Amino acid sequence: MRFNFLACFLFLAIGGALAQDVSLKDVVKAFEDADIPKILAINFKPKLLLEVTFPQESETAVTLKAGVQLARNATKGPPTFAIRGVRTPGPFVIAMVDPDAPTPQDPWAAQIRHYLGGNHTVHDRGGALKNQTSAITEYLQPGPPAGSDAHRYIFLLFKQPKDFAAQEVITPSTSVVAFNISGFAETVGLGEPLAGTFMRVAPDPPAV
Ligand SMILES: *[C@@H]1O[C@H](CO)[C@@H](O)[C@H](O)[C@H]1NC(C)=O
Ligand SMILES: *[C@@H]1O[C@H](CO)[C@@H](O)[C@H](O)[C@H]1NC(C)=O
Ligand SMILES: *[C@@H]1O[C@H](CO)[C@@H](O)[C@H](O)[C@H]1NC(C)=O
Ligand SMILES: *[C@@H]1O[C@H](CO)[C@@H](O)[C@H](O)[C@H]1NC(C)=O
Repeated sequence: MRFNFLACFLFLAIGGALAQDVSLKDVVKAFEDADIPKILAINFKPKLLLEVTFPQESETAVTLKAGVQLARNATKGPPTFAIRGVRTPGPFVIAMVDPDAPTPQDPWAAQIRHYLGGNHTVHDRGGALKNQTSAITEYLQPGPPAGSDAHRYIFLLFKQPKDFAAQEVITPSTSVVAFNISGFAETVGLGEPLAGTFMRVAPDPPAV
């Protein structure tokens, strides 16, 4: 009996820690608890679940649950994406931003644009997204500076407007510093995000 109870507890604890999001309400709450809609100046009313998955060298890939903290070495990436909830083929634009650079207390360099890519389209019935063209801003692994608190790294998915390929506001040579995702969305007509998730990553512990 006692053993069963313990086994059950462990199962729930591990399962809970690894489980991905199944509820839009939970994702919205995680965003609100972390003050993200306000900080990014976005209206966050997601229609879909966004799954962001990081391949790992020797273990099973890790799929984010909104707000989860990952060790920096688990975020090497590049991540893969999937959507759950609605059958819509895309294409989608996906962005990843850090509003906490260099520190959450004094984010003078924010936002850092860690990823920006278009042409993500639904590839199978499971909602996996595939892309055949290179990203505008290639994935940049989190690297919060020593001494900083954990940073929030936020992924947002938008419907891609027809003329998106012609935009020149952000190109592969645009600095990744001082980006503004809501300003960009407004300028190029992305509308409001359809889905999103985020993770927290702290600096590497000092080497010994
Ligand atoms: C990341 O580092 C931690 C602590 O050093 C280690 O336990 C873990 O196996 C590493 N994970 C990966 C994916 O390398
Ligand atoms: C596809 O998306 C990934 C991120 O998931 C990105 O690194 C890559 O440049 C994109 N393009 C191609 C052709 O893979
Ligand atoms: C998407 O695909 C089109 C057609 O292949 C291409 O012209 C465009 O540059 C690609 N990238 C983006 C971000 O739209
Ligand atoms: C980012 O852009 C939005 C929309 O244009 C604007 O409301 C907001 O003040 C901007 N944020 C910063 C830090 O400039």
